[in-house]
Amino acid sequence: VELGERSYQVEIGAGNISAAAAHVNNKNKNARVAIVTDEVVESIYGEKMVNAFEERNITAGTVVIPVGEESKNVETLAMLWDSFAELGIDRKSVVVALGGGVVGDVTGFAAGTYLRGVDYLQVPTTILAQVDSSVGGKVAINLHAGKNLAGLFYQPRSVVIDVLTLKTLPEREVRAGLAEVVKYGVIWDESFMGYLEDNAAKILAIDPEVISHVVMRSVQIKAEVVGSDETEQGLRRILNYGHTLGHSLENLAGYGVYLHGEAVAWGMAVATRISAEMGMLKYSDADRVLELLKKLSNVPKPADIDADELIAGTRKDKKAQAGKVNYVLAESVGRVVVRDDVDEGLVKRVVEEHIERG
Ligand SMILES: NC(=O)c1ccc[n+]([C@@H]2O[C@H](COP(=O)([O-])OP(=O)(O)OC[C@H]3O[C@@H](n4cnc5c(N)ncnc54)[C@H](O)[C@@H]3O)[C@@H](O)[C@H]2O)c1
Ligand SMILES: [Zn+2]
Repeated sequence: VELGERSYQVEIGAGNISAAAAHVNNKNKNARVAIVTDEVVESIYGEKMVNAFEERNITAGTVVIPVGEESKNVETLAMLWDSFAELGIDRKSVVVALGGGVVGDVTGFAAGTYLRGVDYLQVPTTILAQVDSSVGGKVAINLHAGKNLAGLFYQPRSVVIDVLTLKTLPEREVRAGLAEVVKYGVIWDESFMGYLEDNAAKILAIDPEVISHVVMRSVQIKAEVVGSDETEQGLRRILNYGHTLGHSLENLAGYGVYLHGEAVAWGMAVATRISAEMGMLKYSDADRVLELLKKLSNVPKPADIDADELIAGTRKDKKAQAGKVNYVLAESVGRVVVRDDVDEGLVKRVVEEHIERG
């Protein structure tokens, strides 16, 4: 990820989780490491990670947070700060975020603010975290008023991805993460889209070679976009494909009903259809996107949702500027534009269709 002084490497492999310890270098001699993880990930990978550090004579303490989105809050943040103090974390120390996007986001926030910033490594263990949240340096917690409302840009020292960790990930989580993968094909790379179509079965089976390529290409695309727009002034907004309506659905349904990737899959289905209805995208291309989404991901049918409330929710999005709602729309598979002039009547009609249809 090219960001001048803040550039970093993303290492992708199969069975390389212990290599994370190698990213703690001489600068960190005698320094302590804090591994932050959630209960589930701790039970599967915690010991391995601690051992990897101990083999290098580095003392690593583990801090475990409860599983789930509810942990991404100010109480967890405060607990992490206190734990860092107890573990003797100093400016030379490294914090390791081992887990999904929840662990990555709250740990990155804690690392970015403790002692005005200590280094951290991302070791993402969900598809969503590997292809999206661990790269780009956006870290945040949720407030009662909404998701991700307090946060900062704080880039990791490096990202270490072991795709074999995806073997233990529940299928629902795998499919949710793959929605973001399809997103990269739609917004940036038609030939990647073709690869996803040709290899769908192997992707779902977490074939090491195929999934490594999928994760690598996704990370490359995210890195390219982020590298040209670190703080989301322009190009980075295309990463919000499917997210205007997806976020609104996620909020309206209430946390825990749909996974982020499921809400985004639905939002992408709707945005793709809107693109076609506006005459920007061929209907055959819209069908192609929808078909791949259904194959690799789960597109929910949010039957009990009210279209007006959903659309009202898009106006509250923190990315809405001066009351104008931005939609990322497709011009072809591999090319999107950001529009703030989409007719709400059209949005409502397409939303209503997709509430029934998924
Ligand atoms: N910072 C960003 O740029 C960014 C981007 C997208 C999403 N996010 C955030 O990411 C979060 C969602 O992340 P997520 O989908 O990874 O959810 P998550 O962190 O809650 O992980 C999902 C579930 O999978 C379990 N798990 C993780 N790895 C596992 C493994 N290898 N094997 C078995 N179980 C495993 C976890 O314990 C959890 O129950 C949201 O809070 C979202 O806001 C951030
Ligand atoms: Zn997303």
